[in-house]
Amino acid sequence: MEEKIEQLKQEAANAVKQAVASIGDLNDIRVKYLGKKGELTTILRGLGQLSKEDRPRIGQIVNEARQQLEQLIAEKNEELRSAELQKRLGSEKIDVTLAGRRPARGHLHPLTLTLMEIKDIFMRMGFSVEEGPEIEKDYYNFEALNLPKDHPARDMQDSFYITEDILMRSQTSPVQARTMENHEPNSPIRMIAPGRVYRRDDYDATHSPMFTQIEGMVIDKGISLADLKGTLETFLKQIFGEKVKVRLRPSFFPFTEPSAEVDISCVMCKGAGCRVCKGTGWLEILGAGMIHPNVLRMSGYDPEKVSGFAFGMGVERITMLRYGIDDLRLFYDNDLRFLKQF
Ligand code: FA5
Ligand code: MG
Repeated sequence: MEEKIEQLKQEAANAVKQAVASIGDLNDIRVKYLGKKGELTTILRGLGQLSKEDRPRIGQIVNEARQQLEQLIAEKNEELRSAELQKRLGSEKIDVTLAGRRPARGHLHPLTLTLMEIKDIFMRMGFSVEEGPEIEKDYYNFEALNLPKDHPARDMQDSFYITEDILMRSQTSPVQARTMENHEPNSPIRMIAPGRVYRRDDYDATHSPMFTQIEGMVIDKGISLADLKGTLETFLKQIFGEKVKVRLRPSFFPFTEPSAEVDISCVMCKGAGCRVCKGTGWLEILGAGMIHPNVLRMSGYDPEKVSGFAFGMGVERITMLRYGIDDLRLFYDNDLRFLKQF
């Protein structure tokens, strides 16, 4: 009997020593020897069948064996647990002194920056900022601007029609008539109207079917071409610097008479002639003119009593010149390598 117990104890002790894989293995060993139906437990249960003299002696040996085994299992358990903990500490290192991750912070788009600066300059000159809808009536986009339905000049601004009478506005000029309608007839106006416009145009280095314009309009008694030139010169010198030269070149718009394209001396070569200005030394920057009498009349203003000028500029064009950007499509590509530079 003693030999059997000793043998079981040795067997169990060896099993514990070899249980290196997991705490689960150790539990299997505990069940096998010390569980309810375990081998040492079974011997304890059978004590009653032994003689009176043997009973206490064998009982003591079994209990000692149980205790030793419990102890071994507990020690091994501790060993396995700390090994596991060490392993986790090694692989799940958290450096609490590490600086936090800064959330990516956006900033304004270059077109927005230019728009804000243009608005600032005109507001300092006493202009208000008006707005008009991007989905516009044919009446405001063309007819009220002296472009009746069959007028050939409509071809210059082929647009996206929603119905026969509603379209995506092809210019910010419809805000001219809308603003006059919102005013007492013949009362003075000094406004700019920024916003998006749409045309059936190519998408290339200098054109987009959707782009940004800023309209300007001044109406009062005795407004002349000199006021137009002075206002635009003041504006352009603030945007491009005091040294920039400005010239008016005769042109045609159905809603202004006379009309002009306004050029500035090339910002790249300072007027000497280069690739950007195609050797001319000048860059076209906006269209302008004295408001046509028909346009004033259609919106309730009397061309005998007041006169005015209007202009319209492309914000992409101006932003490209300010920053030396050679492709308009960069504004809309959403490439962070480009956008992060502003
Ligand atoms: C006009 O749109 C007139 N409404 C401007 C005007 C207003 C004249 C008031 C007189 C009085 P134009 O079609 O030339 O004019 O366009 C004005 C500017 O918009 C151009 O000088 C150019 O800078 C810009 N532009 C025109 N088409 C495009 C396009 N597809 N992509 C980007 N910019 C464009
Ligand atoms: Mg033009």
